Amino acid sequence: MTDTLPDRAVASDQFRQALAVHASGVVVITAQCDGAPVGLTAASFSSVSLEPPLVSFYVDRSSTTWPWLRAADHFAVNILASDQAELAARFARKGIDRFAEPTRWRAGPLGAPLLQDVSAHLLCLPYETADVGDHVLVVGLVAEAAVHGPGRPLLYHQGRFGRFLAHPES
Ligand SMILES: Cc1cc2nc3c(=O)[nH]c(=O)nc-3n(C[C@H](O)[C@H](O)[C@H](O)COP(=O)(O)O)c2cc1C
Repeated sequence: MTDTLPDRAVASDQFRQALAVHASGVVVITAQCDGAPVGLTAASFSSVSLEPPLVSFYVDRSSTTWPWLRAADHFAVNILASDQAELAARFARKGIDRFAEPTRWRAGPLGAPLLQDVSAHLLCLPYETADVGDHVLVVGLVAEAAVHGPGRPLLYHQGRFGRFLAHPES
């Protein structure tokens, strides 16, 4: 670390290495657009505000899913459970039908696809977007929230999927 403020951004590989140390939960954002289901895996999901209830994620501007998501009147956040690493990988893979077998899903009450066996679903109305660097910040107003499982999360760390182990003293 330097003891004076640098006048430039950190090198890309140093940036990536540092970010990889940060563990995150994994969600799949889904929507229904022109009758077709769309979705992508995101680790950038975060809570934003309690009143009003807001959540956010960042989507790469080069994402081919983003134009469809942007056009949708609502979207779902599917919070993945610890045994859903393959599902997460599937919704990050290009050139496949992500909703084909073995993906199990159903249309939700407003139309957005809900993935089966996830820990929780949030149904969100578009609230705000902002261009930030090479990503778009997407903020959603949570209209409905449903918890399905015990909430054992799928985590992403150092480019690998893993599980949460509670500290024995906590
Ligand atoms: C664990 C994991 C987390 C990801 N998180 C994000 C994210 O937060 N934002 C994003 O734009 N892409 C993220 N991606 C990549 C997208 O899922 C993937 O690039 C995208 O689905 C590509 O397809 P598309 O061009 O059809 O959108 C992540 C991928 C993985 C495996």
